[in-house]
Amino acid sequence: MIVIFLGPPGAGKGTQAKMIAARRGIPQLSTGDMLRAAIAAGTELGKKCKATMDAGDLVSDDLVTGIIGERIDMEDCKPGFLLDGFPRTVRQAELLDEILEKKGRIIDVVLELSVDDEELVNRLNSRVAETKAKGGEVRSDDNEETFRKRLGVYNEQTAPLVPFYKDKGLVKTIDGMKSIDDVTAQIEAALS
Ligand code: AP5
Repeated sequence: MIVIFLGPPGAGKGTQAKMIAARRGIPQLSTGDMLRAAIAAGTELGKKCKATMDAGDLVSDDLVTGIIGERIDMEDCKPGFLLDGFPRTVRQAELLDEILEKKGRIIDVVLELSVDDEELVNRLNSRVAETKAKGGEVRSDDNEETFRKRLGVYNEQTAPLVPFYKDKGLVKTIDGMKSIDDVTAQIEAALS
């Protein structure tokens, strides 16, 4: 099973993908988490990406596609995997198609999480408040100004993936405004 989670920042992609991955025993591949891990480890990759991510822009298509291409070659991805935050541009989607075609694999479904902009900003503020309350480190791109920039980048560069995948008959739209449990139930129904 290969599932893509598509949606704006704060839509709940990570929350849902982690839960569904745990239930199905397949990995959740988050390019955002992979890049943040590279930054935290001080690798060359992390150094290359930090300024771009802090500004709320997208890192290069070739770079993220290279990371995903290597990751899905690993043994644990054989039964399937969930993509969270990738692809994010039409170019990334085309490159992913090329990678999967070479491996004889196909995307099963693209789950589009739909959430209003103001709710997204509320969720960002809650995430920041929760992280501070737990004494954790707030993401450097989780301030309202950068978050609104990320929303703009989503609308310009990532939203065109909805018609791209609709043309392939792969999109199922999930009402992401509902409670976390309700959204999980909608996703389970879409996957069954
Ligand atoms: P990335 O890490 O992918 O961030 P994002 O897409 O902006 O998404 P978020 O992690 O902010 O939100 P989410 O949808 O996962 O929501 P969450 O579940 O946390 O990307 C960060 C950066 O990395 C990019 O800007 C770019 O620079 C770079 N990057 C990454 N991938 C790239 C790529 N492919 N190409 C180029 N660059 C790339 O939920 C948010 C909050 O809401 C949480 O507090 C959660 O508890 C809460 N919540 C979730 N669901 C609900 C609900 N139903 N009701 C109420 N609250 C909810």
